[in-house]
Amino acid sequence: MGKIIWKGGALLAPVPPALVTCGTMEKPNILTIAWTGILCTHPPMTYISVRPSRYSYKIIQETGEFVINLPTSGMCRETDFCGMKSGSHINKAEKCHLEFLPGTAVYAPIIAQCPVSLECRVTEQKELGSHTMFLAEIAAIQIEEKYIDSKGKLNLQQAGLLAYAHGEYFALGRKCGDFGFSVRKKKKH
Ligand SMILES: Cc1cc2nc3c(=O)[nH]c(=O)nc-3n(C[C@H](O)[C@H](O)[C@H](O)COP(=O)(O)O)c2cc1C
Repeated sequence: MGKIIWKGGALLAPVPPALVTCGTMEKPNILTIAWTGILCTHPPMTYISVRPSRYSYKIIQETGEFVINLPTSGMCRETDFCGMKSGSHINKAEKCHLEFLPGTAVYAPIIAQCPVSLECRVTEQKELGSHTMFLAEIAAIQIEEKYIDSKGKLNLQQAGLLAYAHGEYFALGRKCGDFGFSVRKKKKH
């Protein structure tokens, strides 16, 4: 089978289509961000890449804070909507019936319906071209209680998170392994 060569482009998939919140409980905004990821484990660091034309851009730059909220596949329509309309004209939370809860480490609110919310403080800003990358420390994480079992283990597969791949949304499928399972010794019975 042959390979087709394309010129370099933004094709990394799947990625999380995050609902990023910024501003304050009194004046919040939401935008959808697919250009995000983890940069470092210790200290826990992430980034979001935002076009300067976004209404949220100035808010994030001025407050130095944002929250990465992970939507479920049931929130697919809301996730797309928050990436289509600007908060400069409309109240996206109201239109999508999304509720806010206060952050614990940042003034930016979290989205109540999202199972996981990463509260982030900007440490650095890099102008890369079309997008500016906001590097940030993950100061706190809020997780929906029902996904943590009695042993304190987070069972994220139960949350039904939404994925985004090359312009299309997907519900995460079946679990096919876990970290290190390929080299793990089987328990003797
Ligand atoms: C799936 C999806 C992913 C997106 N990813 C990004 C992104 O990574 N960076 C960005 O600047 N805009 C991204 N957008 C576009 C913004 O979410 C969109 O322009 C939004 O309306 C900006 O909202 P605001 O003007 O209220 O800040 C994405 C949109 C969608 C639908």
